[in-house]
Amino acid sequence: MIQVIRILFVCLGNICRSPMAEAIFRDMVRKENLSGKIEVDSGGLGDWHIGNPPHRGTREVLNRQNISYEGMVARKVTEKDWNDFDYIIAMDDQNIEGLKRIRNQSNNEAVIAKLMDYVEDPKEDEVPDPYFTGNFDYTYQLVSEGCFQLLKQIKKEHLHS
Ligand code: 4NP
Repeated sequence: MIQVIRILFVCLGNICRSPMAEAIFRDMVRKENLSGKIEVDSGGLGDWHIGNPPHRGTREVLNRQNISYEGMVARKVTEKDWNDFDYIIAMDDQNIEGLKRIRNQSNNEAVIAKLMDYVEDPKEDEVPDPYFTGNFDYTYQLVSEGCFQLLKQIKKEHLHS
């Protein structure tokens, strides 16, 4: 049985979508008093923004929702993450391909899925990248619905609630 459930959100740059998911999910976990049971992090497949805070568009939607992103800085996903996380949640198919390329062959037990896989009849199969679309509000809607459904699934599977 898993003691602490560890979730890593992944996107390309780790400045727009995955930090948004990390902040939203952590906020949901905190509001449900599950902070001791679920840990959240995020990472990117590219290295362009390592050390940078979330993109201004992501900060703006989070500010509007009163969701903290304090201390969050971009980092790159590493092979070690495969041992450190139970769920590796990607935003799109390209992320899944990137993750498969760096997968640690010795440990394939982590669940690898796309965030939208948790949503029934999703509007999109992939979370659109607002770095290119400019639409951070639409991405927020999709990410928050995905996070809600992911948390529901994790509670059902691991916390019997
Ligand atoms: P993200 O968006 O993957 O949602 O963080 C991107 C941010 C930066 C770049 C690509 C995607 N970039 O090419 O710098």
